[in-house]
Amino acid sequence: MKRVAILGSTGSIGRSTLSIVESYPDRFAVISLAAGSNLQLAYEQAVHWHPKLVSMAHERDAETLRKRLREAGHSGAEVLSGAAGAVRVATHPEVDFVVSAIVGVAGLEATYEAVKAGKQVGLANKEALVVAGELITAESKRQGKPLLPIDSEHNAVHQCMRGGKLHEVERVWLTASGGPFLHTPAREFDNITVEQALNHPTWKMGRRITIDSATLMNKGFEVIEACRLFGLPPRQVDVVVHPQSTIHSMVEFRDGSVLAQLSVTDMRLPILYALTFPERVESDLRFNIRDLKQLDFCPPDMNKFPCLRLAYEAAEAGGSKTIALNAADEIAVEAFLQARISFKGISRVIEATLGETVASHPESISKVLELDAEARDVARNLVEHIGGAVQLPAKLH
Ligand SMILES: NC(=O)c1ccc[n+]([C@@H]2O[C@H](COP(=O)([O-])OP(=O)(O)OC[C@H]3O[C@@H](n4cnc5c(N)ncnc54)[C@H](OP(=O)(O)O)[C@@H]3O)[C@@H](O)[C@H]2O)c1
Repeated sequence: MKRVAILGSTGSIGRSTLSIVESYPDRFAVISLAAGSNLQLAYEQAVHWHPKLVSMAHERDAETLRKRLREAGHSGAEVLSGAAGAVRVATHPEVDFVVSAIVGVAGLEATYEAVKAGKQVGLANKEALVVAGELITAESKRQGKPLLPIDSEHNAVHQCMRGGKLHEVERVWLTASGGPFLHTPAREFDNITVEQALNHPTWKMGRRITIDSATLMNKGFEVIEACRLFGLPPRQVDVVVHPQSTIHSMVEFRDGSVLAQLSVTDMRLPILYALTFPERVESDLRFNIRDLKQLDFCPPDMNKFPCLRLAYEAAEAGGSKTIALNAADEIAVEAFLQARISFKGISRVIEATLGETVASHPESISKVLELDAEARDVARNLVEHIGGAVQLPAKLH
């Protein structure tokens, strides 16, 4: 029986994890849950799963949850709050496996502490590896517990890696759908509207990740994640546009063999894989190979999508540069969504923030968070400056 903690239990990955736990009751038990501010769902999960510990992002929500659970006769769960509460959820002594699925840097500390406490960690949260991947992977090595990726591309790479040894890997191929502007001519990029950028062709996701997919920054983050998870330099991690998103990623070995992973596009499969690794168990998540009609591939256009180039440059430098990349992207995407900068302004803000970031390699999570805050301030100032300099499409004024 694996005893599980879920960081971000009320989110999309958290709910998919609970659905897997529900499907395999003799394999998994829920010990602790951390949520943000979805009080109603956190209450329902606490009543259904009887965790020993629940944490909410804010103390006022924790207080309400305590009261509601008490009144409903469910006083078994301890209820905590804040970053310290999430750390307790992740490091509960009875927990074996932690699913890290809090969005953004809010999940960083709990993820790092879980690794440090020797827990097996299944990682969905991208930002943790982008901003502090060097610290987290060094700690997981020390603990002898490699991270298990849940992000579908990295999960696919992890599966393909089982076909050879790390020194036999020529390169990793991360597949990218290409986003909504794959076929849009570069000259039309000045006129991209928020509505167009939010209209992803294949996936329905949160607003930030949807814009990150449109700029290809999401793929850039995945390049950094792959380098850190698998210990590869950026030149060994390539991106290939594959609009059907059928192949989740590939590994090319030095003898010329290329192993690819194909499966349904359902996050429950990578979650199940991580939770049961190194075993493979029966599931109903079937992929009908006979439905496969066409697989297309082409290289990404780094001129049209400068965010991908910036991510490669930051990956090469590491440390403060990848922290600034993530922080500036978050600020710039928010400004674009508020129509304060244009679509092309996103990469300009990020490039200028990287230019103002002094290269360094933080040695603690608190230093990472300090550099993150500094980069956000720089990016905010640049938004004011660049926002005034670019021509916003008439629709956005
Ligand atoms: N969804 C996917 O298909 C997918 C695929 C690959 C990787 N990922 C990555 O996985 C992570 C989670 O993605 P998601 O799609 O599940 O996001 P989501 O649906 O937005 O869920 C985010 C979760 O984080 C919680 N949260 C937010 N701030 C918090 C805080 N300060 N303290 C504690 N919990 C907090 C939210 O709680 P409330 O809802 O209660 O506020 C929610 O449970 C992201 O890093 C994402 O990039 C997602």
